[in-house]
Amino acid sequence: MQRNILIGVTGGIAAYKVVEVASRLKKSGANVKVIMTKHAVEFVSPRTFQEITGNAVSVEMFADAANFNVAHISLANWADLMLIAPATANFLAKAAHGIADDLLTTTVLAFDGQILIAPAMNTKMFDNPATQANLSILKARGVKILEPATGELACGTSGKGRLPEPVEICAEVEKIFAPKILSGKKILVTAGGTVEPIDPVRYIGNRSSGRMGYEIAKAAVNAGADVVLVSGKADVEPPSGLKFVKVESALEMREAVLSEFATVDAVIMSAAVADYRVKSPAAQKIKKSADTLTLELIKNPDILRELGTLKKSQILVGFAAETQNILDYANKKLVEKNLDFIVANDVTAEGAGFGVATNIASIIRRNGSVENFPKMSKAALAEKIIERTANLLGKL
Ligand code: CTP
Repeated sequence: MQRNILIGVTGGIAAYKVVEVASRLKKSGANVKVIMTKHAVEFVSPRTFQEITGNAVSVEMFADAANFNVAHISLANWADLMLIAPATANFLAKAAHGIADDLLTTTVLAFDGQILIAPAMNTKMFDNPATQANLSILKARGVKILEPATGELACGTSGKGRLPEPVEICAEVEKIFAPKILSGKKILVTAGGTVEPIDPVRYIGNRSSGRMGYEIAKAAVNAGADVVLVSGKADVEPPSGLKFVKVESALEMREAVLSEFATVDAVIMSAAVADYRVKSPAAQKIKKSADTLTLELIKNPDILRELGTLKKSQILVGFAAETQNILDYANKKLVEKNLDFIVANDVTAEGAGFGVATNIASIIRRNGSVENFPKMSKAALAEKIIERTANLLGKL
């Protein structure tokens, strides 16, 4: 498929990184055109982008007297996607409020396709309520915002505000063009760990970071699904473009999941649900007194098992976090919980398990087939899980 990508470069030091973005997109087969603001030209020469993309770079609104009144319209009509990187706070403010005072902002206003913005600036400028409000306005309009990375900034400080690496920006672009293999399908994903109260200030928790489930939810959104993410405690930001339901305990998660179950096509249960909760949580903070303290625990409902008994046409996907006999234990759970497939992993293996960005997993199906995946990012594994789910839903 021919893809026309229009890159808007605004005046930030990170503009140099976007040369690589343009190069990678071009190499991936896309047609790439670039609009630079006048300030962007202070950082990178238009000629660089011109050589990389093989297309003339536009800067001035009135560069071509004969065509000035149509340049922004024709570029807007040409593009399938607009990527603004790096986007300054000034650009975000203008785009949020429909100000069109140069070629780039005018083109943004005339463009009705998907816009992806990668802001990059000083941390304080990014955190400023004005910038955050502008980002909220843009997000609410369906603009995709690529969160800045954290690290050293050009101004000598360190914090959130760096332009993500070119490969990450290109991955985001790829996702936008990803085939919508789950369009028309509703997917429920659970993630994170449940929190079981002991008293008003303490709880029993687990080491789940929520990353795997959040990546699955994101991949499902990218695949065009209507997504509900029911999440316990997690260390990562929820993805955009989905219904986010925050819960604490296993009982709350069960409620939230059951209330959605009848209307969904698939459930992917990656949450680390506590198997036990405190039988009678104290109403007041427990004060220390005796040398030992005994908490009586009671079994939590097994949400996935319950779904397995209720299921009609829904696809059910479970996880098995094991430390030994992985395939045997996972297979047992697959059958006992009436799942369509289970994602099994050895949480003690290096590069797998809690808190890390990678995983090493196997997918076991009802027919006994086993797919062993090498170590890969949780995002890549999430895409595999979504592909297998789409396959079972007859979408592939
Ligand atoms: N699960 C659930 N409700 C629970 C416990 C787990 O829905 N109360 C789900 C998890 O989200 C996961 C799968 O079931 O998809 C994990 O199965 P489970 O047998 O609970 O795994 P473990 O807790 O690791 O069980 P065991 O201690 O028996 O290994």
